Amino acid sequence: MSNYHIKHLEEYFQVYRKSVDNPESFWEEIAEEHFMWRKKWNSVLNWDFTKPAVSWFEGAQLNITENCIDRHLHTRGDKTAILFEPNDPKEEATHISYKELYKRVNKFANVLKAQGISKGDRVCIYLPMIPELAIALLACARIGAIHSVVFAGFSATALATRINDSDCKMVITSDGSYRGAKTIDLKSIVDEGLENCSCVKTVLVAKRINSSINMKEGRDHWLQPLLDDASAECAPEIMNAEDPLFILYTSGSTGMPKGMVHTTGGYMVYTAYTFKNVFQYKEDDVYWCTADIGWITGHSYIVYGPLANGATTVMSEGVPNYPDWGRFWEIVEKHKITQFYTAPTAIRALAKENLSYVETYDLSSLKVLGTVGEPINEEAWHWYNDNIGKKKSPIVDTWWQTETGGIMITPIPFSTPTKPTYATLPFIGIQPALMDENGQEIQGNQVDGRLCIKFPWPSMARTIWGNHQRYKETYFSAFENMYFTGDGALRDEVGYYRITGRVDDVIIVSGHNLGTAPIEDAINEHPAVAESAIVGFPHDIKGNALYGYVILKETGESRDPNNVRKEINQIITEHIGPIAKLDKIQFTSGLPKTRSGKIMRRILRKIASNETENLGDTSTLLNPDVVQEIMDNVL
Ligand code: WTA
Repeated sequence: MSNYHIKHLEEYFQVYRKSVDNPESFWEEIAEEHFMWRKKWNSVLNWDFTKPAVSWFEGAQLNITENCIDRHLHTRGDKTAILFEPNDPKEEATHISYKELYKRVNKFANVLKAQGISKGDRVCIYLPMIPELAIALLACARIGAIHSVVFAGFSATALATRINDSDCKMVITSDGSYRGAKTIDLKSIVDEGLENCSCVKTVLVAKRINSSINMKEGRDHWLQPLLDDASAECAPEIMNAEDPLFILYTSGSTGMPKGMVHTTGGYMVYTAYTFKNVFQYKEDDVYWCTADIGWITGHSYIVYGPLANGATTVMSEGVPNYPDWGRFWEIVEKHKITQFYTAPTAIRALAKENLSYVETYDLSSLKVLGTVGEPINEEAWHWYNDNIGKKKSPIVDTWWQTETGGIMITPIPFSTPTKPTYATLPFIGIQPALMDENGQEIQGNQVDGRLCIKFPWPSMARTIWGNHQRYKETYFSAFENMYFTGDGALRDEVGYYRITGRVDDVIIVSGHNLGTAPIEDAINEHPAVAESAIVGFPHDIKGNALYGYVILKETGESRDPNNVRKEINQIITEHIGPIAKLDKIQFTSGLPKTRSGKIMRRILRKIASNETENLGDTSTLLNPDVVQEIMDNVL
């Protein structure tokens, strides 16, 4: 029996059992039967969570682009690999076949080489959702360069921090980008960021909006002429299974973003296998994930997972409300989308609009719907199920993380009965555990605790770039011999998991992870600010929004508070990006602190969320009076 494609619940249970009873032989079989290796492994898995050190398929050699492109050329050469749907519906969609993708990736790979990039070099990619973005990832992978994609909504400062952290030699960007009716001047953001990055020698610029931009002599090159001159054949660099494929930054509770390092072999096997099963992809399906490739969802489930299966994957450049709120459904009808994968925040925004935006379009091609990035609330789940899936397309609520590389807890559509707000059951090979505060595993059902994973899986991040100690402390120190996710979860009476949210200082706003510390650091740069604390509070579209408590310096107290609020958000936009702006800013004379000086965020969170009946014990605070003051002035 091939275990590659699971078709019913009983089979899921059987395969799951096999994958935990004999993980090595299980993954060996999947890897052997479904991928192209230049050399087989010496061992399937080596691991030690105390170091932590994990390796999969040690000794094996491969190139992931041969698996994502070359091996499909005979059977699927003319099939659309990437279907690009532009921001403006008046501009035609582009179908890039596997043959065409092969040429474009190889040309791009040759350009990278000609510009001095070789195996192991880091290349920063800061591009909008245009085909060059996916092609740039694959071109790096073709020659063994490590890509580090930075979401093109991040500010110049955030970009520079990420470029310097991984010492990138090159940046790939565009003149600008379209975002609904607006254009964004990406190149000038790059120019500003690069003032502080001496490691970058070359900038390649794709043309998208035809704006006039500055090109720095000797550093900046237009991409297209270089591609035109490049050969369409580039032999793939043969990589070890454990060679890094990419770095992708994610926010931490403290300070610097964490450059999660993903390696080649295990990542490929796991993203491909999850893609096939979680979306039940069939040969002629047209799959669309609305995420941006700047996030892990785009890496794993727009680029690598789909292409490794020879799928047609849609890349859409636009936003859900341009030219109007019917845009998603227009695209579904136009391309006869079969699987649609989006974020709860988008569903909530769409659900607020008139249903006529949905009803205008024929959505009968849809078979599977997915969500990712944050908990989905019951109302949004039902809206999605009733109006988009017409109660016949199962919703896969997929829980996973940048760190996990691939989907970890999810229903398998048409097999696992779904339950609103539940990510349901662990995927094949995944061994979750709920832990209590004393570090004990909680057995049985109808329990809740901190979500950990007990056993390695092929696509887990191997380290944090340049900081293995931080990797160990963040993920492997809270609980012995466990990967700690930072999330809380409950397990219901049948063993289904429901993710309840972060238990650390990361706040998920519109599906984007934001650490409180970097935002507070930014606010504290304002000359009038003495101290600040950020918490999340419920927001009916974004899931959570940010609430800032700010103590002004004496010199700042005479300032117009609204001006200070604007300036604070301006600083946050410059340091991080507009996604981290605060919805509410309350000025206060103090912050509730423990005797050891730690801010009691739990109290601040409750006040901001209007849950003040049960604030818990405040008597141990250093300054209990400030709690009343904050409650009296809450916004
Ligand atoms: C949250 C996104 C509830 C969770 C792939 C996790 C979810 C963080 C879900 C990772 C879900 C993701 N239900 N919460 N289905 N999916 N999360 O790194 O808190 O951007 O730890 O990866 O998003 O976000 P990241």
